[in-house]
Amino acid sequence: MRLKTFAVAAVALVAAAGSAFAQSFPSRPITMVVPFAAGGPTDTVARLVAQSMSETLGQQVVVENVGGAGGTLGAARVAKADADGYTLLLHHIGQATSATLYRKLPYNPATDFAGIGLVTDVPMTIVAKKEFPAKDLKELVAYVKANADKVTLANAGVGAASHLCGMLFMKEIGTQLTTVPYKGTGPAMNDLVGGQVDVMCDQTTNTTGQIKGGAIKAYAVTTPTKVASLPDLPTTKDAGLPGVQVAVWHGLYAPKGTPADVVQKLNGALLAALKNNTVKARFAELGTEPVSADRATPQVLDAFVKAEIERWRPIIQDAGVFAD
Ligand code: MLT
Repeated sequence: MRLKTFAVAAVALVAAAGSAFAQSFPSRPITMVVPFAAGGPTDTVARLVAQSMSETLGQQVVVENVGGAGGTLGAARVAKADADGYTLLLHHIGQATSATLYRKLPYNPATDFAGIGLVTDVPMTIVAKKEFPAKDLKELVAYVKANADKVTLANAGVGAASHLCGMLFMKEIGTQLTTVPYKGTGPAMNDLVGGQVDVMCDQTTNTTGQIKGGAIKAYAVTTPTKVASLPDLPTTKDAGLPGVQVAVWHGLYAPKGTPADVVQKLNGALLAALKNNTVKARFAELGTEPVSADRATPQVLDAFVKAEIERWRPIIQDAGVFAD
């Protein structure tokens, strides 16, 4: 009996300590890890969200770029960080696809994180350097097939969205190209604009400005409907590659074991960011929008990661692309 009373008191003490910690949270700056290079699409989304979250939380949310290995280096860093809410991860669909793409990962994407909420779903675009000799998607496919030994396809490494979309593209046209991996599609875009690589599949958050400015050519958008910010761009379905369908969802995570009330506080700041007019306006310019509030929850994100791992597993296994 005395043992039971002691156990109950101990649990109450731990709970009280937890909620006192949450009340004073955050008392110092928070790091938001982006698992890709600066200047790319994940970085762009993260910086907009981090700025608004800083205002809500009254502490700086500082973006740190940990690029490499298709996003898995940055994700590993957060999986192993202290579970105190001060190290977060803003990652995209690669959180789910890497579970199958990598034979070995130093973390488990389904169980080593505490989801804070979904952020946005970003369409992708098939783009090429300005000088590329194809005026529409059909011509692009014909040219790529005829010149498969010469055409290069940029991506941000195995596990990146650009890798996933490029994989679907090559499968759909039945042609293997030489891929050129970068630490993010920010630096890959610099090389595409400079003409050092030929083709890329990348998110509208990285391609819209370059397409509108005429620095690159665009052929199709990978979502079932057109994107308002690029109204002349056909969908892959209408342009002849219906199998290249992908929207890049982004989520915000803390390490597993982060106290629930800290996760809740971070979720409140995320929800405020998704309602923020500056964030919404910039997202719209870049061809995307925040997810609805009912999708921006820890429960939805945790379940979604698991469901997406299962959804992509057979597709990736079928394509036969793996990394060690
Ligand atoms: C990707 O291809 O996964 C992203 O574009 C990477 C990035 O944000 O640079």
